[in-house]
Amino acid sequence: MTTFAPNGSLNVEALRQEFPVLSRDIRGKRLTYLDSAATTLKPLRVIRAVEHYYRRGTANIHRAVHLLSEEATGLYEGTRTTTQQFLNAKDEREIVFTTGTTGSINLVARSFVKPRLKAGDEILLTCLEHHANIVPWQMVCEETGAKIVVCPVNDDGAVNFEAFKKLITPRTKFISCLWISNALGVVAPIREMIAAARSAGVPMLVDAAQAIAHVPIDVQALGADFLAFSGHKLFGPTGVGVLWGKIEHLDAMPPFLGGGDMIKTVSFEKTVYADAPAKFEAGTPDIAGVIGLGEAIRFVSEDIGFKAIKAHEDHLLSKAEKALGEVVNLRVIGTATPKIPIFSIVMGNIHPHDVGSILDSYGVAIRTGHHCTQPLMARFGVPATSRASFSIYNNEEDVDCLVKALWKTQELFA
Ligand code: ALA
Repeated sequence: MTTFAPNGSLNVEALRQEFPVLSRDIRGKRLTYLDSAATTLKPLRVIRAVEHYYRRGTANIHRAVHLLSEEATGLYEGTRTTTQQFLNAKDEREIVFTTGTTGSINLVARSFVKPRLKAGDEILLTCLEHHANIVPWQMVCEETGAKIVVCPVNDDGAVNFEAFKKLITPRTKFISCLWISNALGVVAPIREMIAAARSAGVPMLVDAAQAIAHVPIDVQALGADFLAFSGHKLFGPTGVGVLWGKIEHLDAMPPFLGGGDMIKTVSFEKTVYADAPAKFEAGTPDIAGVIGLGEAIRFVSEDIGFKAIKAHEDHLLSKAEKALGEVVNLRVIGTATPKIPIFSIVMGNIHPHDVGSILDSYGVAIRTGHHCTQPLMARFGVPATSRASFSIYNNEEDVDCLVKALWKTQELFA
């Protein structure tokens, strides 16, 4: 039963009421929040769940028989079940809570991939990757003598799939690719890429950090080995995320961090580790964050649904594409289709930080810089862009405010 999309079409004005930040004035102007690729706003449903834990339900998990601990454990483990259903994972033991996409990728790099690497082996990435899907691989390559191979992107930002297939060789020991680019919004042909990896027998991780709030994900149908995402890009709290991995991989992987809650028994002579996923969740986790993440997932799946999300975002995409196309001296990097409404903008010689500051003075929040994708910026010959990224709570007025502020920027520098 959807609350904000009763007939499959999103009631965006009702939905906006659910996001309290949207009622803020920014420098006396209406807030036009176009930085959802960096982090999404949080709905009341999530805020209340986190607040409830701190206000009425604070306790540690897995450690005590008192009521508060029992409740907190139930909510924390409930998110595991919710996440399993959301991703259609076959077993809830395949859901590991981490600090986010970065934590998830580092865990796989250290615990699954590094022990399999030797000098001369290769890890295949694409030019679109976020630093979180580059640096952990460089670190394990430095330690093992393996190397990174990069699949190029075309001039429109699309993954060059023909090149991708050719770059998978007997030396390729792992493939790690994003599904949707945080910098450009272009969608990679992830199903075809996974199929290519599988037919070569190479394990693959999907970085779904950006995809998670935009497309439904069925990990069994996808057929990859690992998938990582962050709560905060899915209307949930920061500092918490998920690693999904096939249970046979997780069972075979050594733990990454040692500590409490990841053991069966400890003596000074020997520690016996807990089974997955507990062996990867050492220490007291972000309990409130995991509870908030569960609420965020229910918010997306129960209150909205991906059909309505896609229809609304496609509408924003085409309206913004048209309006931006009319602004003189403006170039959008990453025009490949399919894409989601993320626009990486270059305006002649105007520095992106100047664009960002002027837009901010109009209440328009965008991200400027390299978007943690410096190799991608280098590929397009720019140090930085001005990135406007839309989400479910954006409306047509947000497109108008962005475009008006961009025109003002042009006038100022003309
Ligand atoms: N990865 C985040 C972004 O794209 C922080 O802005």
